[in-house]
Amino acid sequence: MTIRKNILTIILAAGKGTRMKSAVPKVLHRLGGLPILGHVLNAVEKIKSKQTVLVLSAETPAVEQYAKSHSLSPEIVYQHQQSGTGHAVLCAESYLQNFTGPVLVLFGDTPLIRPETLEKAIETFTSFPSSSPVAAMIVGIIPSDAKNYGRLILGEAEDVIDIVEAKNASPEILTIPLCNSGVMILDGRHALSLLRAIERNPLGNEYYLTDVVKIARRQGHRTGLYRAENAVELEGINSRSELAWAEAQLQHRWRTAAMAQGVTLMDPESVYFSYDTQLSADVTIYPHVFFGPCVKIESGVDIMPFTHLEGTHIKTGSKIGPYARLRPGTIIGENARVGNFVELKNTTFASRAKASHLSYVGDAEVGEGTNIGAGTITCNYDGYNKWQTRIGRDVLIGANSSLVAPLTIGDHAIIGAGTTVTKNVAEEALTIGRSKQVDIAHGGKFFHERKKARLSVKKKETS
Ligand code: UD1
Ligand code: MG
Repeated sequence: MTIRKNILTIILAAGKGTRMKSAVPKVLHRLGGLPILGHVLNAVEKIKSKQTVLVLSAETPAVEQYAKSHSLSPEIVYQHQQSGTGHAVLCAESYLQNFTGPVLVLFGDTPLIRPETLEKAIETFTSFPSSSPVAAMIVGIIPSDAKNYGRLILGEAEDVIDIVEAKNASPEILTIPLCNSGVMILDGRHALSLLRAIERNPLGNEYYLTDVVKIARRQGHRTGLYRAENAVELEGINSRSELAWAEAQLQHRWRTAAMAQGVTLMDPESVYFSYDTQLSADVTIYPHVFFGPCVKIESGVDIMPFTHLEGTHIKTGSKIGPYARLRPGTIIGENARVGNFVELKNTTFASRAKASHLSYVGDAEVGEGTNIGAGTITCNYDGYNKWQTRIGRDVLIGANSSLVAPLTIGDHAIIGAGTTVTKNVAEEALTIGRSKQVDIAHGGKFFHERKKARLSVKKKETS
């Protein structure tokens, strides 16, 4: 049984995200194959809150659908009009009503956030002495570019006195390096009274969540600050270039982690991982390799250049590529070989099976030690349905064969090169299906002589 912390987490994601210039809601844009929101939900899942509430706009049903499909399955509440972050948190009012523990507020567009950072913030919040608890604690950062961040005004004892939004700030306040990351923890006992006291900001024309700091102090409470070590983690994504920046940050994080656990990356910058790529120690990855979602690779595997993998499990000792494409549903057994320009889909390769060059094998089972010759194609689709090809163990499939599914080829069978196989092949059989060869003695020599003679007549006529 999962032990849950007495924390209520509220994630705000009702903003419009107009700067993405996209028909797709901002938080569904992907990084390493996973929507931005998925990264946030994954981090929140790890901190094991008692309850998580996601604030969404009713105009983005796709976001709701995605959130419901996530294993965290947060409670969904709607913010019908985007009237600011303070108003957005209050949309979770019914969950705040009887809750007295810490309320963690964060944004759905900060995909780089790590659960460790959230844990540390919670730890700091809960370690304030119960004799003088804080009603609101702000997670502060010093970003390299303070841009539009709210600036934190501190009191003498590292308590936050006020947060001033950049658009409301004087030039003097804009020089303050310490900013509001957007992550905040409220004391559940006071959260509702703080949130309800927020007034519409006349300049921004919105209800600013950041106003809870001033209100808390007015109500006689303490406020606190947690300085996050890594400002990068708390950057929000608002545009396509920030999306590309976040992708680079995540890729760097995943490459570093892979190498730290014993994976060789010859040219780390040219290898792209997914959020869920699983690699064992002693995997070697050559330059220019792309991992789509759901790839698991066991130790001793080499992935050679320009290989594209997704939905694939590769067992110990196999060699893949260069230029291989492994599509979802592929399982490669131990010490197998998949070479250049080979595409596999929904196919199981048993151990020591080989397809070294130029083949398409789809919806198939390939037995142990079987060799698929160059240019072999499984014809798995008749325009309406997909059909299976089952190839036994130690079979030799000659080059340039077409295997028309549904089809079973027995163990130890041999298929002659260039055969179109349309019927099942028994164990140990030799199957050849190609038109008969005709040989004309000296026909080649005769052909050349005739051609050359015609050419010399033409030359004489034109000179
Ligand atoms: C906010 C903070 C600012 C902080 C910055 C950090 C406020 C008033 N300002 O500013 O101090 O430095 O984040 O990135 O809180 N959202 C809703 N409903 C709304 C408005 C926003 O759900 O009505 C959500 C957005 O989807 C987003 C998050 O709240 O996930 C933040 O909103 P955004 O408009 O980006 O706030 P900032 O102006 O960046
Ligand atoms: Mg923002």
